[in-house]
Amino acid sequence: MATNNNYITELVDKHGRARTSLMPILQGVIEKNNFISDQDMTEIAMELDLSPAQVYGTATFYSFLETQPRGKYVIRVCKTITCDMHGKRTVVQTIEDMLKIKVGETSPNKKFTLLETNCLGWCHEGPAMLINEKPFSGLTPEKVHDIISEYMHK
Ligand code: FES
Repeated sequence: MATNNNYITELVDKHGRARTSLMPILQGVIEKNNFISDQDMTEIAMELDLSPAQVYGTATFYSFLETQPRGKYVIRVCKTITCDMHGKRTVVQTIEDMLKIKVGETSPNKKFTLLETNCLGWCHEGPAMLINEKPFSGLTPEKVHDIISEYMHK
């Protein structure tokens, strides 16, 4: 069956059909639409020869299936053990203090949403986070302060 969404075809062409392409493809869809529809997941599953449940499972695992309104910038801080042991809590605390929101919330001006997510694959440089599709690693309260300040002025 042909895919209806050109952007899915483009993402699959760009990243390839290997299983390891699933994350970048999901991130690409999020970047474009801010969420992943059931139809998108079904089409990605067909393209990558996975079951829709596998795609759904991955999207859920990385908190890509929020149904709440999202901010322009979605911050996902890794909550998995390595990042946790390397000071993820102080990183989250710094972001919460700066944006005056808690994990799971969106700022009143709809600019930021703060989420926690599972291992992003940067454990060796943890704590790590994504802002939309962009990864940041080796975070300290000072470093995250500078990053968030920059985004606040975008
Ligand atoms: Fe945080 Fe892997 S444990 S990136």
